[in-house]
Amino acid sequence: MSDDEIKSFPEKKRMFYPPRKFVEQANLRDPSVYSRATSEEGWEIFWEDFAKDLEWIVPWEKFIDTSNIPFYKFFVGGRINVSYNCIDRHLETKRNKAAIIWEGEPEGETRVLTYQDLYREVSKFANVLKSLGVGKGDRVAIYLPMIPELPIAMLACARIGAVHSVVFAGFSSQALAARIDDAKAKILITCDGYYRRGKIIDQKARADEALKHLKEAKIDHTIVAKRAENEVVFSEKDLWWHEVVMDSSQKCTVEKMDAEDMHFIIYTSGTTGKPKGVVHTVGGYLVYAYATTKTIFDLKENDIYWCTADIGWITGHTYIVYGPLSNGATILMYEGAPDTPHKGRFWEIIEKHHVTIFYTAPTAIRLFMKWGEKYLENYDLKSLRLLGSVGEPINPEAWWWYHNNIGGGNCPIVDTWWQTETGGAVITPLPSLTPLKPGSATKPFPGIFVDVFNEKGEPTKPGERGYLVIKRPWPGMLRTLFKDPERYVSTYWSRYGKDIYFSGDAAKKDEDGYIWVIGRVDDAIKVAGHRLSTMEIESAVLEVKNVAEAAVVTRPHEIKGNEIVIYVTPKEGVEADEEMGKKVILHIREAIGAIATPGLVVFTSDLPKTRSGKIMRRILRAIASKDEIGDLSTLANPEIVETLDNSVKRGVSGVIIAG
Ligand code: WTA
Repeated sequence: MSDDEIKSFPEKKRMFYPPRKFVEQANLRDPSVYSRATSEEGWEIFWEDFAKDLEWIVPWEKFIDTSNIPFYKFFVGGRINVSYNCIDRHLETKRNKAAIIWEGEPEGETRVLTYQDLYREVSKFANVLKSLGVGKGDRVAIYLPMIPELPIAMLACARIGAVHSVVFAGFSSQALAARIDDAKAKILITCDGYYRRGKIIDQKARADEALKHLKEAKIDHTIVAKRAENEVVFSEKDLWWHEVVMDSSQKCTVEKMDAEDMHFIIYTSGTTGKPKGVVHTVGGYLVYAYATTKTIFDLKENDIYWCTADIGWITGHTYIVYGPLSNGATILMYEGAPDTPHKGRFWEIIEKHHVTIFYTAPTAIRLFMKWGEKYLENYDLKSLRLLGSVGEPINPEAWWWYHNNIGGGNCPIVDTWWQTETGGAVITPLPSLTPLKPGSATKPFPGIFVDVFNEKGEPTKPGERGYLVIKRPWPGMLRTLFKDPERYVSTYWSRYGKDIYFSGDAAKKDEDGYIWVIGRVDDAIKVAGHRLSTMEIESAVLEVKNVAEAAVVTRPHEIKGNEIVIYVTPKEGVEADEEMGKKVILHIREAIGAIATPGLVVFTSDLPKTRSGKIMRRILRAIASKDEIGDLSTLANPEIVETLDNSVKRGVSGVIIAG
């Protein structure tokens, strides 16, 4: 959110206090939780109390090991299994409770899996993986859409100690191949196809294409779940999910995992073109997912909890699968798009399944706002008691719309700030205890030490912009980057020293200590809540024939928060045209996926550069956003700025040839 937006919105100061009705029924009612969890004597106890709710095979000896920072260890000596804690632990009391309520995109299609069903399906699939030679520590790539086989596959891996790397189903074949290669996965799990906006997406063909691009990894088998019944090409290495599980035993003992064994890898965009393999481990991550879900969402036995994220991103890992299931909750999973077959689909689902907790992204909220309230009219949303927001700053206008129209004016909204690296929410309200300020993620979760630092590493004063940092380790944090510990240290633990986590986000604190996140300060960008990297997109553009140079920036977008704008210089003597623009766009979609599709491609004979030849992205961003361009005195070629500015002003979207 820009400073101006924060300033100009008249309701920015209005605080929203938790409604009495909500507070009276809440799990947490004692505000001293904040001071206890941050006190010297209370900090470890706070975390250990949550850990004690889980079932450990061998109890831990020590909460934290700080002997080799920033390679922290938590719950040292403990042994635990994630799958057991998400399933078996609940069987005695919740055997017939719905664990997953799944809604397919084609209307009317529903599948319900009880905890007993989940136990059976996960154990059977875990035995299949074992029979294919998958053992503890082996990597399994999962390229599945939002169907129940996705959490089943993840929990099956966790059961036998295999490490899953879930790749968002919307990523392209090339992006999948790069991730399989980096993780050296030996099994790939995918499906025939799935529904998206009424069409069948041919996922198996995309998976097959990825295998052709592999450079290092060797996939022994591809396991294919049947979903859309579209025709697929099968090779001798391919196995149908439903066939292999048929004779598989439903008993599968759990692997006794060390708390610090690897649980999963999840790739995310960072400061270079190459995605980073963020590593989460078993014990600390599970405790963190469990604790934050329980408290932030005020989970109760009868809740129907719906997080609309895709499990392919960290939000889905933590707040669809591991957090809610470790709490024994009922989760709702939806396969498709919010406007299929009609724009009231989400509200219809809430009414149909009596959803009580709804967690979504600002981009989605802005889209619903644009569509208008008429799509809400026919649905009863009174079951909702708590709303959440994640992934990008929520503008106060969208906050109030969400609050009034979806929440009926009486649901608290938990705006949760966090990252793939943090494992779970870090800055967030506790809905019964924290007064809300629309647009602010409010305060650090109890037991977490967040601050905003200036360049010198001093805490900023209220209203001063700085960098968001975390001053103490926390159980859910990433432990390293896969096969790249140096990059782990240099990316997160170098800016202010080895004991301060650098988030890559700019933020401000206000007079009340509330935190207002501004956005990324590195090459990572957020488009419709999806995390991408400008460098990753630039390297894709540079692969296009006749492209000499490229620079990727973002400009504000009414719905998506940000939109991608690409400036391209063709090679000497090449005349850029509409066709070349289309090639650039197509190639980005092939290299990354449709989520990286630019809003605007600008061809130009030159890019604004400093005398030492550095591209001035600040200026390109200002031109794209139609902002004040500012000082041009350091430029070697200031004349190009006017040409670009005039051309961009003319074009709204698509391809522009500047000059
Ligand atoms: C941004 C998503 C403002 C932030 C869970 C962060 C947010 C990046 C919020 C991580 C929020 C996430 N308010 N900004 N509530 N939540 N962000 O790894 O820039 O996909 O660094 O994790 O999203 O994105 P990632």
